[in-house]
Amino acid sequence: MSSLHTEAFEAAGQLHLLHRLDQLSGEQEARFRNDLARLDLPRLQQLWNGKEGHSTQGHPQTPTLIGLEESTLRAKARSRGEDLLARGTVACLTVAGGQGSRLGWDGPKGTYPSAPISGDSLFAQFAGQILRETVRYGQPVQWCIMTSPLNHGATVDFFDKHQHFGLDPRTIHFFIQGVMPSLDRESGRVLLAGPDKIAFNPDGHGGTLRALAGSGLLAKLRAQGVGHLSYFQVDNPLVRALDPVFLGLHVDEDLSSGEATSKAVAKREPDEKVGVFGVRDGELTVLEYSDLPPDIAEATDSDGTLRFRAGNMAVHAFSLDFLSRVTAEGGLPFHRAIKKVPFFDDSTGTMHEPLAPNALKYEAFIFDALPQASRPIVVEAERAQEFAPIKNAEGQDSPQTSRAAQCARAGTWLTTAGVDISRNEQGEPESELEIRPSTATCPQDLASLALPKHLGAGERFLV
Ligand code: UD1
Repeated sequence: MSSLHTEAFEAAGQLHLLHRLDQLSGEQEARFRNDLARLDLPRLQQLWNGKEGHSTQGHPQTPTLIGLEESTLRAKARSRGEDLLARGTVACLTVAGGQGSRLGWDGPKGTYPSAPISGDSLFAQFAGQILRETVRYGQPVQWCIMTSPLNHGATVDFFDKHQHFGLDPRTIHFFIQGVMPSLDRESGRVLLAGPDKIAFNPDGHGGTLRALAGSGLLAKLRAQGVGHLSYFQVDNPLVRALDPVFLGLHVDEDLSSGEATSKAVAKREPDEKVGVFGVRDGELTVLEYSDLPPDIAEATDSDGTLRFRAGNMAVHAFSLDFLSRVTAEGGLPFHRAIKKVPFFDDSTGTMHEPLAPNALKYEAFIFDALPQASRPIVVEAERAQEFAPIKNAEGQDSPQTSRAAQCARAGTWLTTAGVDISRNEQGEPESELEIRPSTATCPQDLASLALPKHLGAGERFLV
């Protein structure tokens, strides 16, 4: 038997792992020991016993939103946000550790060619924005990118291959999120992914907190004078990576503690796959779409609009102090999902591809930090300007819908800049349009460019 603490494995119902270890030697044994050392056995036991988890109890209320029409508030916020950016106190954080399985792309999702004409990748598009703001504010912007053990190497290689998209590599900080083992849903036993390895999965974007602190990046950012993070997911090419209005509202002391601020977009229909903001027991929270009871998803106000319509865009601003506090106070709870996970059966020595969901996977969600924030706020954004995620290979939230939205937004900005654009009966541009984020991150950026007077049907315009 190994030198590992047998009692701890026994108490957690995971003794089979030590029996497996006894059958290994040499490199295989070393590898497996390494995996075993990564297990947090007491936590696993707690999770399996259902003693941990987020609350879905209590009837939620709708949150107060800072609406699109709040123009005076927004105008004041803009200059405050611009000041933060000019002082270099905001860094970007992109979570890119997900497996992107719904899209069916064989590589990190950020490498997906998302732009309509250039075929620029999601990473290139975000980098373009950061480059544009670096020039505008005369300050380097630190960019933190969370990867997972499954896609870290491929992500770093992609940035190297593209010379970091013109950014200073010293400002790009990759950090790897943690993992959680998958459990057999019947027995609670940790599943194996091979004779000498545990079936681990990334621990969700809530893993950001532990990984940021554990990698030393939080301390490094502080030392560089960063006080806030602009957080966004890897899947939305229309995101405003550094929005001065949003950041200015985040630090407006009359409204907010400056700990956590989120962006919302009006949810389109009851079954749109977005979480919605709600207030439970006085605390702001996200009611995730997969957990949303139909009566809440379908509830409407007297004018027929969805009552819970503040859709979670997965765009947040967090202060570093807040993230440190949440981490120190024990981090975020895990959610469990029942999934199909291939596993190694040590009684037969073979791999199994389950036909039905056989496993419990645990993931933490970043938005579970919101209830711990003091005076968090939610700011409404316009879908057509800021939200066109790529999630599925086809249908809604696909590359096709996202490219159309990018083209439509480019059309709106070009029209604002005085270009006459042919449009179809639905008002959509009849030309293919792309504005690279390194050229413009807002319509005003187009003012100094020499633009065509007219763009007609079938033309392609890339600037
Ligand atoms: C997510 C939100 C949903 C929101 C929607 C907006 C969750 C649970 N739900 O849904 O409330 O309305 O986006 O588009 O997030 N990721 C990691 N590591 C992981 C898992 C995910 O970095 O371990 C990253 C992914 O790379 C991706 C993002 O998190 O950038 C979102 O993950 P995904 O599971 O695709 O969330 P959605 O179901 O789309």
